[in-house]
Parts: sequence; structure tokens; C-alpha cells
Amino acid sequence: MKMPIQILKRLSDEERSSLQAFSLKDPSAGSILIAWASETGTAERLAFETATALQAQGLSVMVLPFSEVSIQQLTTIGVAVFLTSTWGDGDPPTNGEALLKAFLASTEPLPNLRYTVCAVGDSAYPRFCQCGKDLDIALEQLGATRLAPLATCDIDVEPDFNLWLEAVLDALSNN
Ligand SMILES: Cc1cc2nc3c(=O)[nH]c(=O)nc-3n(C[C@H](O)[C@H](O)[C@H](O)COP(=O)(O)O)c2cc1C
Repeated sequence: MKMPIQILKRLSDEERSSLQAFSLKDPSAGSILIAWASETGTAERLAFETATALQAQGLSVMVLPFSEVSIQQLTTIGVAVFLTSTWGDGDPPTNGEALLKAFLASTEPLPNLRYTVCAVGDSAYPRFCQCGKDLDIALEQLGATRLAPLATCDIDVEPDFNLWLEAVLDALSNN
């Protein structure tokens, strides 16, 4: 069943803060991790929109900034969804730097992890969505399986984001 994604755009501040509160609870085993890295809120907002859509499908989710995620945690998680914007010269936002660096240096195999990356950027920059592209490849090289193809969302994020979210929901509903 497809989620009517346009409803998500009407997410109120109140609803978002209730999701924020939810995300801080201890994750139950089997939850899907939705991890975000953002400087000015775009990728963070998309992470919570993703959480709302997955919850509407009856899926259990936890939402965390990259800064609260470790590679060790990912060895015990079945599905992880990453959303990151791009800063500097193709670099991650401040709260994504440590995790991205850890992924690029890691040799910890992640054979049981299914993942997808939604990268947010601006095609006016030469290194468009570069850190999201790097993350997508790093996870593949660690043996994780792509749940849905990498999305590279331009400054008007919604069209690419919505296509990506539909692909994620389809993949999860087919298991
Ligand atoms: C100073 C600056 C540097 C940026 N560098 C890049 C870049 O190298 N590549 C890219 O694709 N987008 C770049 N962007 C665009 C941001 O990724 C884009 O505005 C994004 O929507 C911000 O998302 P956030 O609010 O989640 O941080 C840059 C934006 C600024 C203001």
C-alpha cells in the first residue's frame, strides 16, 4: 500500500515534536533506524517525514542524529535509513562528520544490514551530494545491502525525496 505522501507536508510543529520525543525513547529490538545529519534542518525534517511515513505503515522506527549512531550499533540493526545534507566542499554537516569518517575508515563487516541513503545538496556546487554518495559506497563496501537506490535531492528537495521515499516504502512492504 502506498502512503499518501502529500499528507506528510502538513506535519505540524506539534506533531514533529511528539515524534522527536518518541525518537528519544529506547529503541525496541527490530526498529528501523532513521539517522540524519543536517546543518540547517532540511535533512532533519526529511528524516522525521520518513519516520512518519514508515510508522503509518505499521513499522517501528527510531530517529537519531548521526552523532548518536555508532558502527557497532549497526552490526545489530536490520534496516538503517540515512539522510544527510552536504556542506563545505562536498562534506558532511558537523553532526555527521565523525560517523562518516568512521565509515570510511571501517573494516567492520555489515552483512546483515539493509540500508538506503538520501543525500541532500545543491547541484550548483561541484561536489553535489558528495558525502551522501561516499556513505552509500562505504556501506556497500562493508557488505551491507542496498534497500533502495541512493537519492540525490537538489535544492527543491521534495520531488527526489518523494520518489526515494516511495521506493523505500515499496522495498519494506515487500520485505
Ligand atoms: C556554505 C554551503 C556549502 C554547501 N556545500 C555544498 C556542497 O558541497 N555540495 C552540495 O551538494 N550542496 C552544498 N550545499 C547545499 C546544502 O547541502 C543544501 O542547502 C541543503 O539543503 C542543506 O540541508 P540542511 O539544512 O539539512 O543542512 C552547501 C550550502 C552552503 C550554504
